[in-house]
Amino acid sequence: MSGRLSGPRFYKMLESNHAVVIYTKANCSACARAKATLGADPHSSTVENGLKIFEPRVASHSGVHLKDVIIVDLDLSSSVDSAEFDRLASISGRRTVPVCFINGNYVGGGDDMVRMGRDGTLLFKLAEAKSIEIEEAYEFVNKHGSPAMPPAPPSLESSSTPPNTSESLPPPPLHPAPVPLDYNALHSEIDSLILTESDLYANAANVSSAVYHSILKHRGPDGCNWCGFYFARRVVDSDSVILLLGPFQGKPACRRIRLSEGVCGAAARTREVQRVEDVHSFPGHIACDSASNSELVIPMLHPTTGELLGVFDLDCPTFGGYTEEDASELGKVCEKLCGVSVFPKERIEMGDIRH
Ligand code: SME
Repeated sequence: MSGRLSGPRFYKMLESNHAVVIYTKANCSACARAKATLGADPHSSTVENGLKIFEPRVASHSGVHLKDVIIVDLDLSSSVDSAEFDRLASISGRRTVPVCFINGNYVGGGDDMVRMGRDGTLLFKLAEAKSIEIEEAYEFVNKHGSPAMPPAPPSLESSSTPPNTSESLPPPPLHPAPVPLDYNALHSEIDSLILTESDLYANAANVSSAVYHSILKHRGPDGCNWCGFYFARRVVDSDSVILLLGPFQGKPACRRIRLSEGVCGAAARTREVQRVEDVHSFPGHIACDSASNSELVIPMLHPTTGELLGVFDLDCPTFGGYTEEDASELGKVCEKLCGVSVFPKERIEMGDIRH
């Protein structure tokens, strides 16, 4: 019997039995970024069971020693076939490498690894996976700071002797709480923009701008990468309703979304707020911008009939980017918008969904 591992058995072993597993290809720049984030030495690979494996020793962004990290170059691994790659694609939702798992969970691609390295979430994910000691993560953050990290406990900031970290530190925050917005100021601004206007597009455009800039002002660019509206429209000669792109701030996005799809579809279908801390674990999430890691979608309903009018969608490059307060205060904004604006009734053609 050969030592070759293939198919589900191969991936199951890698995903679940190691702290970090990254599937890469040799000449891929996004893979190089993921490898570099973990400090993989390109000259230190070995071949085991037909898999070309790098074992990084030190995470380059922090100098912290890593344990149990496996990086597999798929194209240089003789035991990997296309069926196995299909399985990876079905987990990640895309047919590109790198595909990165921490603690058995899919965490994204190369840019996601770089961003998590920069904002401090990577260290805490590595600690959760037992690839590094939690004390090492705190030590690094206390020494160098990190934009996504909470302030160090006072006893550590003022102490010149090494802290007894296992006793004095609080449990690691998986998703550091976002800074609160000034909702009084935001509501006043939005009132002045929309209360004397009834055109939906003018109002929605100003609301998306006011909310987006308020988030950026308080949380910086990691607070929001897309903020805007999809409106519910009936389809010609059909009982279907689809979500049609409306005014927004951010990169171009998919124009039409079925109610059966994505976080937006879920909010529209259930008429419930969807506050998703990690979009990669939301089945069917539609990634309009690969920078998004969390999302808040608020359904908009007619104030008297309860009819679905659309959704207000916010994407965030940080995990756990939106709070319950955001959901409730932005829900009030949506109610106001629906109360003063006239929504178009004309049916539209189905068009090319998700293009
Ligand atoms: N992520 C959304 C799609 C819309 S974009 O984020 C702008 C979803 O899963 O429905």
